[in-house]
Amino acid sequence: TRRITVPEIAGRKGGQKIVALTAYTTPMAALLDPLVDLLLVGDSLGMVVHGLPSTQGVTLEMMILHGQAVMRGSSHALVAVDLPFGTYEASPEQAFASASRLIAETGCQAVKLETHKGVARTIAFLVDRGIPVIGHVGLRPQASNADGGFKAKGRTEAERQQVLDDATAADLAGAFALVVEGVAADLADTITRNVNAPTIGIGASAQCDGQILVTEDMLGLFDWTPKFVRRYANLKETIQQATTTYADDIRKGTFPADEETYRLGTKA
Ligand code: KIV
Ligand code: NA
Repeated sequence: TRRITVPEIAGRKGGQKIVALTAYTTPMAALLDPLVDLLLVGDSLGMVVHGLPSTQGVTLEMMILHGQAVMRGSSHALVAVDLPFGTYEASPEQAFASASRLIAETGCQAVKLETHKGVARTIAFLVDRGIPVIGHVGLRPQASNADGGFKAKGRTEAERQQVLDDATAADLAGAFALVVEGVAADLADTITRNVNAPTIGIGASAQCDGQILVTEDMLGLFDWTPKFVRRYANLKETIQQATTTYADDIRKGTFPADEETYRLGTKA
């Protein structure tokens, strides 16, 4: 199979919805890969996999290791890797150094960065140098300290205008897709109608050109269920039930049984 390309994702504007999920590991990437269009190695891995309190502690080295793992497990979906906090904000040159490492060392096809108007020239700088970029506007988890938490965006007219400006600036700078996170339906609709790039929503209504969720949220691995998550499985309960039975079996002495036991050198 051939991987879905950047122009193919860009060409989905207003067409067939883009189906995206996060992936951090080889086995999960392998399961999701045939079923989705885009796999994002999100810096959410800091919280989901490493138990960090936010995404601010995620390093470029972590993103490279998980990016490599996801590339090994996939062959169909487009793979994009997040630029983590502190690796792109200082200058376009810093962003290029970080993004080119992600591309060169993982083999991923694109990078994603959280963007406000000031980051637009960095997007243009990367795109000019052959690095496809996905922008990320609205609720920006890397800005949670400045924002005072994880807050949906667009409560005031000024904030709505700000998010729309961020989106149009990233679009004009050449981002080939835009993640739109945590905004009300009418703002998501306005953004989607005002940018050339397809929008990929998370907590941003059905107005977007595609949708993404954190895979572990979609699969019900955590108690944390914000309004925008739909649980398509209850992996938490499945894992707890399986582990309870495993522990019981060991304690009762019924695991391992005869058929799970090697008897080397004995005739049947
Ligand atoms: O880090 C992440 O997982 C993300 C997606 C939720 C869009 O940025
Ligand atoms: Na992210």
